[in-house]
Amino acid sequence: MSIVNAKEIMVEAAKGKYAVGAFNITDLIQLEGVVDAAVEKKSPLIIQTSVKPSKFLGRDVLVAIFRTIAESAPIPICLHLDHCTEVDYCKACADSGYTNIMIDASKQSYEENIRQTKEIVDYCHSVGNISVEGELGTVSGVEDQIIVSEDETQLANPAQAVEFVERTGVDIFAPAIGTAHGVYKTKNPKVDFERMATINKMLNSNGIKTPLVVHGGTGLPEDYIKKLLEAGGAKFNVSTELKRVLIDAKYDYICAHREEYDPGKVDVAVRDAIRKAVGHWIDMLGSEGKA
Ligand code: 13P
Repeated sequence: MSIVNAKEIMVEAAKGKYAVGAFNITDLIQLEGVVDAAVEKKSPLIIQTSVKPSKFLGRDVLVAIFRTIAESAPIPICLHLDHCTEVDYCKACADSGYTNIMIDASKQSYEENIRQTKEIVDYCHSVGNISVEGELGTVSGVEDQIIVSEDETQLANPAQAVEFVERTGVDIFAPAIGTAHGVYKTKNPKVDFERMATINKMLNSNGIKTPLVVHGGTGLPEDYIKKLLEAGGAKFNVSTELKRVLIDAKYDYICAHREEYDPGKVDVAVRDAIRKAVGHWIDMLGSEGKA
């Protein structure tokens, strides 16, 4: 149907109290499985690549595949560059045709984070219809999730979040609220729902201007997802789960068909497993039928 930036589909999501799934892919079969699920469920979709696969596969190759698939798919699709810490690579991906760029300068000082984020916002807006995601605070890895969530200074400060958004002009915003990348080691990860709701209220109570992103989707309990939707989450990032599904599906198929040597059949198994996993996320996020 259309190639879109992340902001436009997230504004609709935030208004409708659902969220768009943003799925990290590392290869073509995974990408096809993600698109299969979104098409089947008639859901808007964000495809993400982190920097490593983007450089490994080639950003122009990825954009060409994305365009080919998105132009014929009956749903709106965005191609997002995830967690890029290099200003130059953000710009290169914008030039290549990514439609959302995340400049992750969250490990820099507050002022430097603002400076780099604003530079990418200005650049992407001058190139074309590209939205930009910025992050404030620390979205931890799972190892240090507890430490971060108990350390207020590493979570996004609501007043600073508003200032950050205003000074950078960022289109979509990822506040650190205690979610973590990887597989949570506890059934009850420490997530600050109130902080998310407060930031959302401060940014979006007079109409949705800067929709919010939830990082660390893998392993979030379903009731957490519900609460985060209510608190304003309009994009949920899911990466680790899809890596595990890819490798497990491949491994299981090969173990069960040890003498077959037919890569096409392995690919079918992986694509279908990814389709099912993403379909489940679309159900949880409430985006079915919203395309
Ligand atoms: P997970 O790997 O925990 O799903 O987190 C994904 C993410 O936030 C990517 O930006």
